[in-house]
Amino acid sequence: MKNIFEQVKLRNLTVKNRLMRSATWEGVAICKMLAREGIDSIEVSGNGTSVSGIRPHVNEGYFAKFAAKLTKDVDTPVIVVVGLRSRDVMENLLNSTDIALLSLSRPLLREPNFPAMLEKGETSESKCVSCNACYSSQEHRCIFRK
Ligand SMILES: Cc1cc2nc3c(=O)[nH]c(=O)nc-3n(C[C@H](O)[C@H](O)[C@H](O)COP(=O)(O)O)c2cc1C
Ligand code: SF4
Repeated sequence: MKNIFEQVKLRNLTVKNRLMRSATWEGVAICKMLAREGIDSIEVSGNGTSVSGIRPHVNEGYFAKFAAKLTKDVDTPVIVVVGLRSRDVMENLLNSTDIALLSLSRPLLREPNFPAMLEKGETSESKCVSCNACYSSQEHRCIFRK
């Protein structure tokens, strides 16, 4: 493992690991090991297809608690993905935890300029309804986009 990290660093690349099983006790052990080896960041994710039926303020950011706890266990920037849909939930996460960054996937398929719209105050919630139809659409396009 150490050798792999040294080789990658020599080439001036960034190592970021997206752990598909990070939200488990086993994942925490792997995160700690990778942190010790000097990984650049850890993105907390989960195994399998994206969870459907995410609703703003109802069931957003379902790995956020886990990610917030992980920040106490590793000295490495922690990123969280999955199910973030509204500005205030995202702002609250960044303001109230040590989570370094947030990731978005389906909201960007639904509205590619969603982050810019949030920044400009043009919207406060994603229009993505988490139906997962984009998994089977051509080029993974959101079926609601013209
Ligand atoms: C069409 C589609 C393809 C995806 N492919 C991958 C993949 O290859 N590897 C991966 O780790 N996650 C993949 N994901 C999961 C997303 O990166 C993300 O973790 C998940 O959708 C939850 O975040 P969201 O609620 O912001 O969409 C995919 C998601 C979608 C919608
Ligand atoms: S098809 Fe569109 S609305 Fe449905 S999950 Fe994908 S991005 Fe979201």
